[in-house]
Amino acid sequence: MHPALQTVMQQRLGCRAPIIQTAMGWIATPQLVAATCNAGGFGFIAGATTPLKDMEAVILQTKSLTDRPFGLNAHLYMAGAEAIVDLVIKHQIKAVSYGRGPNKQLIKKLKDAGVLCIPTVGAVKHAIKAQELGADMVVIQGGEGGGHTGAVPTSLLLPQVLDAVKIPVIAAGGFRDGRGLAAALAFGAVGIAMGTRFLMTADSPVPRTTLDRYIKAQVDQVIVSDKLDGLPQRMIMNEVLTELENASKIGLVYRGLKSGLAFRKLIGVSMFDMVKSAWGMARSGDSTLGQTLMAALAPVLIQRSVVEGRPSEGVLPSGQVAGLIDDLPTCKELIDRIVTEAEARLTALTAARV
Ligand SMILES: Cc1cc2nc3c(=O)[nH]c(=O)nc-3n(C[C@H](O)[C@H](O)[C@H](O)COP(=O)(O)O)c2cc1C
Repeated sequence: MHPALQTVMQQRLGCRAPIIQTAMGWIATPQLVAATCNAGGFGFIAGATTPLKDMEAVILQTKSLTDRPFGLNAHLYMAGAEAIVDLVIKHQIKAVSYGRGPNKQLIKKLKDAGVLCIPTVGAVKHAIKAQELGADMVVIQGGEGGGHTGAVPTSLLLPQVLDAVKIPVIAAGGFRDGRGLAAALAFGAVGIAMGTRFLMTADSPVPRTTLDRYIKAQVDQVIVSDKLDGLPQRMIMNEVLTELENASKIGLVYRGLKSGLAFRKLIGVSMFDMVKSAWGMARSGDSTLGQTLMAALAPVLIQRSVVEGRPSEGVLPSGQVAGLIDDLPTCKELIDRIVTEAEARLTALTAARV
């Protein structure tokens, strides 16, 4: 491999290529993580959407599919976080990723046990905070990235963070190929992390009907909206998002209640209890009742698309990069291709020009 592609990231994570598959709710399954790791990348399990009771089984399933190291994503601020940290340590998982609400004590516990702490941040001040709290490396996600996202594009956030912190920085948001990897390394990053590109692989659990929507999406159709859960989130424009974007406050309440029927079945709470808690949350905070209901129901709308394969009835979290992707390679084909392309770019850059 080209020497520029051998970075501290692989040394620490124990993978061949400086490429991370990020945690995506319901998508970063043991199968996808193992396919990534077996292909030479480093995958994170979507721990934040895995019920605590299933977490150990999911970890063991991943171990049965790969003998390579892998990571787990967790919300360190949530109830049950301590139990997840204990499982990570028990099963000697290589790294943990996290975002909002980092927990100093749990980070210390992980680090004392030799687990690498690699949070994802979308703003320079959060990168500085992450370093202060003991992060071993940090993933920065630029605004073009999928799911919850910030306002600053990768090309500006990456140099900002590189100038502000001493820990190794991994670039995310908009990556899909070897040109992007070579560019990130040229900036000074130690690797790239990708969500959407791994979602769009033959090893992804997302049903084909939904993947077709991702393949057809154009760059300008992957927009940021705060109508799903009150926070800016990048998604492909579709029937449901159009309805949410155009909905009045009353409309949002209606949509929330309508989706609530499905949610109620899923988790077995009564509609009365759901509306009562949403009403309480709306009264105590600055979100509207509609937004609060939607935040509770966002998981249902995401699962409809990415788990059940009903893309017109749910939402489609995605990076803008989906607009540039039109194939579904295996993780192995993808990682090999990215490494070969990056090597070609790096060699071309250093070749004599006439
Ligand atoms: C469908 C989808 C679901 C995601 N779910 C999560 C999640 O549950 N937790 C999280 O920290 N990030 C989540 N993300 C963000 C990704 O982990 C990653 O940071 C982002 O996709 C990088 O940008 P890219 O899509 O341009 O590669 C999600 C992204 C996508 C596309």
